[in-house]
Amino acid sequence: MNSDLDPIEGLREALRLSPENLPLRLHLSRSLMRLGRHAEAEVELLAALTLAPADPDVKLDLASAYLRQEKISQAMVIVEDVVGKRDAPATAYVLYARLLLRENDVPGAVAQYKLALEMDESVADAELGQQLGVGDDHADGEVFEGRVRSSQETPAGDFDPEIERPSTTFADVGGMAEVKEEISMKILYPLQHPEMYKAYGKAIGGGILMYGPPGCGKTYLARATAGEIGAGFISVGISDVLEMWTGQSERNLHELFDHARHNTPCVLFFDEVDALGGRRSDMNSGSGRQLINQFLSEMDGVEYSNEGVLVLAATNAPWHVDPAFRRPGRFDQVLFVPPPDAPARAEVLDIHLRGKPQDQIDLQPLAKRTEGFSGADMKAIVDLAIEGKLREAMKAGTRLPITNKDLVAAVKKMKPTTREWFSTARNYALYSNQGGVYDAVLKYLKLQ
Ligand SMILES: Nc1ncnc2c1ncn2[C@@H]1O[C@H](COP(=O)(O)OP(=O)(O)OP(=O)(O)O)[C@@H](O)[C@H]1O
Ligand SMILES: [Mg+2]
Repeated sequence: MNSDLDPIEGLREALRLSPENLPLRLHLSRSLMRLGRHAEAEVELLAALTLAPADPDVKLDLASAYLRQEKISQAMVIVEDVVGKRDAPATAYVLYARLLLRENDVPGAVAQYKLALEMDESVADAELGQQLGVGDDHADGEVFEGRVRSSQETPAGDFDPEIERPSTTFADVGGMAEVKEEISMKILYPLQHPEMYKAYGKAIGGGILMYGPPGCGKTYLARATAGEIGAGFISVGISDVLEMWTGQSERNLHELFDHARHNTPCVLFFDEVDALGGRRSDMNSGSGRQLINQFLSEMDGVEYSNEGVLVLAATNAPWHVDPAFRRPGRFDQVLFVPPPDAPARAEVLDIHLRGKPQDQIDLQPLAKRTEGFSGADMKAIVDLAIEGKLREAMKAGTRLPITNKDLVAAVKKMKPTTREWFSTARNYALYSNQGGVYDAVLKYLKLQ
């Protein structure tokens, strides 16, 4: 049985919970592609396209899926559409070259491939270059060679996860007062005032697990936590975890934690942690289990001190997180991140309208009519209004301020996206609420 090595089901389940999560859907499709399951990838990409109809990356992925299934003309239609637009990425021309080559238009393929390299030499593809004879007769052949090699190889052992220095702070996050307070108490103040904590004999350590409906600011707040205290930020996403699982990556958890320990203060953030701490039986064996155990021992910090390392994690599906994660010293604090209430929604609007030309916007009525909207929904309202205004302004040839009317019109086009999550969460909260972990959800739903 190889199901314990196949993370696809986990991804599909995560998607059932947040069907609008575009990065997740793209990740699933890319994983499927890597596994040679091109037809399934096609299905996911078509769904992704309904979420982001103009996204060139989605289109190009879909074209690749077609190409791999020998649906050359379908792939061609898409790629021609993408390269016909301004700002087409260099990868579009590489794919175009591949398709032209398949149609035996070698000169056309060479031209497109050269164009791609001119735009961005990092898209070089050794095999395609060789097939097209581009590279050998390239003016600076050696440099080109080097380039090909570097784009092909990820040197083993050269582990260097990026440490971000986020510029956002708590002031950029609307609402979430309680979550901010808990994060401050548990991980910011201990770092800033260790003597105070010692005086009261309060142990420092452990992490916070945030959960809640999609788009309500979990990832955003994690980043702002680092920004708030000028700490580094390492984000470990679902794809990193998947790579660790399938052994495709040299990265391992110990190195990750070590990297954070050498770069304190540092926020180490595990996004979509359910993928790591899966409770499903297929993850309780084999490499899944091993990964969980390693994670737990790193968090316990017995062997190595985690001082100055702030561990945060987020998930939409806390019920899939192994309960062992919640023991003292680990994610002993589990926080519900609810959709923003009306004042918080007004704040989120205000934050995203900052610095944009605007005129007499009355936030309160807008906040009132957006019950159930997530922070991301609120941001989308602003984005929609801006888009419309920009179009108008381009036509008028002058700057026009965003008005209340623009925002109201945008609200009308949107639907709240948090409800679906609650229909699942409600069941877990009612029937699987061990230790009262989901009391906050029950309270939010007024069931307690
Ligand atoms: N409280 C907030 N204040 C300001 N902006 C917000 C807030 N909540 C969400 N947003 C906006 O919505 C975007 C999406 O939020 P974010 O990715 O943090 O949600 P999430 O809870 O991590 O969702 P998911 O569970 O799908 O990962 C943010 O990048 C930010 O622009
Ligand atoms: Mg997130």
